[in-house]
Amino acid sequence: MRCYRFDAFGGFDHLNVHEEPDPQARPGEVVVRVDAVSLNFRDVAIPTGRHPAPHDPGLVPTSDAAGEVVEVGEGVTALAIGDRVISAFHPRWFGGRPPATLAAEQYGRGRDGWLAEFKAVGSESVVKIPAHLPAVDACTLPCAATTAWTCLGGPDPVRPGQWVLTLGTGGVSLFAVQLAKAAGARVISTTSSEKKAELLSGMGADAVINYLEDPDWGLTARRLTGGAGVDRIVEVGGPGTMSQSMAAIAPDAEIALVGFLDGSKSSIDFGELFRSSAHIRQVRVGDRQRLQETVAAVSAGSIKPVIDSLFPFGEAVDAFRRLDSGDLTGKVVISVSNKKGL
Ligand SMILES: NC(=O)c1ccc[n+]([C@@H]2O[C@H](COP(=O)([O-])OP(=O)(O)OC[C@H]3O[C@@H](n4cnc5c(N)ncnc54)[C@H](OP(=O)(O)O)[C@@H]3O)[C@@H](O)[C@H]2O)c1
Repeated sequence: MRCYRFDAFGGFDHLNVHEEPDPQARPGEVVVRVDAVSLNFRDVAIPTGRHPAPHDPGLVPTSDAAGEVVEVGEGVTALAIGDRVISAFHPRWFGGRPPATLAAEQYGRGRDGWLAEFKAVGSESVVKIPAHLPAVDACTLPCAATTAWTCLGGPDPVRPGQWVLTLGTGGVSLFAVQLAKAAGARVISTTSSEKKAELLSGMGADAVINYLEDPDWGLTARRLTGGAGVDRIVEVGGPGTMSQSMAAIAPDAEIALVGFLDGSKSSIDFGELFRSSAHIRQVRVGDRQRLQETVAAVSAGSIKPVIDSLFPFGEAVDAFRRLDSGDLTGKVVISVSNKKGL
């Protein structure tokens, strides 16, 4: 089979195809024929040295895939040949508090990822998807959609009528808009262009703020709620956006801390944090149950993942470049198998 490996870091020039033996299912494992893989910001942040955690080159990249079970190992009862599945972002977090090994076990970090024609994996590290969900859509759910789901859920889930603030039009944020609207919330979104503002409005955002034209977008968001502040922020920007998020948040409401897209500042002001009265919850994508809930929510029909572009397996490097360009809307997907009607 063919797979890709980052033989070295420092950009995408060292992402090379390798011919390797087909994997075989050991006891408790299944072999998945990979149909489609989607990229996340971390997949480009790792090889370009922008990911805060250390990574070693040589591994197969990517965490998010959809495919079909083609071999079942001894002792596997929950899956059968022909079942359609997606990968769990965290292969061994099944519920409860995250295990101490969570970070070390991530795909493309402690173990090979999914940018391969076949992959052997523990049967508990994938979840089933319904027949009607195309692989191209399904492969976007393990990280971006599940993260958005976890942000809106948690110990104090977003309720109908509450205000949710989303930042930009990346994969996590677009799912957050869709899931928040499906939950009956009101959504304020930020973005950097008129075209993307139209997309957000079309997806149901109740108000859109251009964060380049309005550097005080957090205060503007607060005003849009009548002064009370927003009830949940899906905070993907990090150091460069936290100050405005703290200006937007309602007292005792939650900022779900997700990402670090904007590294333009290196520190957070303690006074601002204190005065905001915000609850901060760091999100780590979500466990297996959160993934199953996300699949159920998307399968119910009203949420269609926004796909920016689809690249053939042989042009995977271009897919990474496309995501890295930043000039995109929605998920970048790589079709891996030749299966028709992905
Ligand atoms: N903690 C977790 O569980 C978790 C899970 C998934 C992702 N993440 C992290 O979350 C972040 C988002 O991931 P993603 O995959 O959604 O990213 P992505 O798809 O690469 O996001 C790209 C978008 O980010 C927006 N953006 C960039 N700078 C911004 C700013 N200053 N303010 C508002 N929007 C800005 C832009 O939107 P516009 O073009 O509209 O301006 C851009 O299109 C990343 O840092 C990622 O590593 C964390």
